[in-house]
Amino acid sequence: MEEKIQQQDVPHYFKRPKTQNRLQTIVVREFQQADNLKVQQIFYDGMMEMVADTAFRGLKHHPESLLLYTAMTVLCFVITMSWWVIGLIPAIVLYGRYFYSRRVIHRFLAHALSRDMGDIAGFYNKSPESCLWVAVLEGKVVGIVAAVGQQNSRGAVELQRLSVDRSYRRHGVGVALGQKLLEFAVTHRYSCVVLGTTAYKPAAHRLYRGLGFRCVGFTNGHGTPGARLDLLERIFYRVRHHHYKLNVQDVQIARALKMVSTDIVGVQTTELN
Ligand SMILES: CC(C)(COP(=O)(O)OP(=O)(O)OC[C@H]1O[C@@H](n2cnc3c(N)ncnc32)[C@H](O)[C@@H]1OP(=O)(O)O)[C@@H](O)C(=O)NCCC(=O)NCCS
Repeated sequence: MEEKIQQQDVPHYFKRPKTQNRLQTIVVREFQQADNLKVQQIFYDGMMEMVADTAFRGLKHHPESLLLYTAMTVLCFVITMSWWVIGLIPAIVLYGRYFYSRRVIHRFLAHALSRDMGDIAGFYNKSPESCLWVAVLEGKVVGIVAAVGQQNSRGAVELQRLSVDRSYRRHGVGVALGQKLLEFAVTHRYSCVVLGTTAYKPAAHRLYRGLGFRCVGFTNGHGTPGARLDLLERIFYRVRHHHYKLNVQDVQIARALKMVSTDIVGVQTTELN
């Protein structure tokens, strides 16, 4: 009975990663220099998935952009009086959104690679406030996540750079990386974990909610670190930043961490449910 109550209290993020049911262990460890290329590849691929996500899926989340494109269409019609031109506009808009999303995201990647992702050991190992971990499965690096303590928001640590190799998704790697970061937040006595995402696909949002995060708001805009946008980029690239937060001191988390700290990297197959 007591066990049943405890299991109900355990948030979804402490369920055992699925892969362990198949007797495979996901090991989450700190970054080593030999991981560099693979880590950069996983980060790059994860970010490039955002291009289509932002360009196409994002469209239905931004009625203001749809309004702008409609106004542009009407203006074009007034100027050209040509149905032929009007018929081409949806294709031009979609191409423009794809092209400019790709351009902005490339610039963001270049910025990240000239900063932390270009010198991972130098950036993440230089202080105890930050760390980058890799998930290893079947001997391969298959996922990454980073923690960066926030200078301007005391007690907060930010989850960044979460990405999992496409071939190893839905095996619990994202959860294992998230758990590692929560463990770091608890042991370093942070009061909360924060993160921001511009993803529209449900995967990241479900993962974060499953880990215990709450969406505390969102901001619409064009802002992306390392990118100053020109007019066309502002017309065709618009994102919604979702802000998530998790209070580390949550009694449930501390309790659950105690419960799993010894078997988090074990190969037991019992599933907490
Ligand atoms: C988001 C991401 C990290 C998830 O990694 P993952 O290893 O596949 O995640 P897990 O297997 O641990 O899944 C955990 C939960 O996330 C949710 N989830 C993961 N992938 C999902 C998908 N394709 N569709 C819907 N929900 C999904 C589910 O709730 C899942 O739990 P369940 O399998 O019990 O239903 C991965 O899809 C990714 O790298 N995406 C590209 C980069 C990205 O979006 N990064 C985060 C945004 S900044």
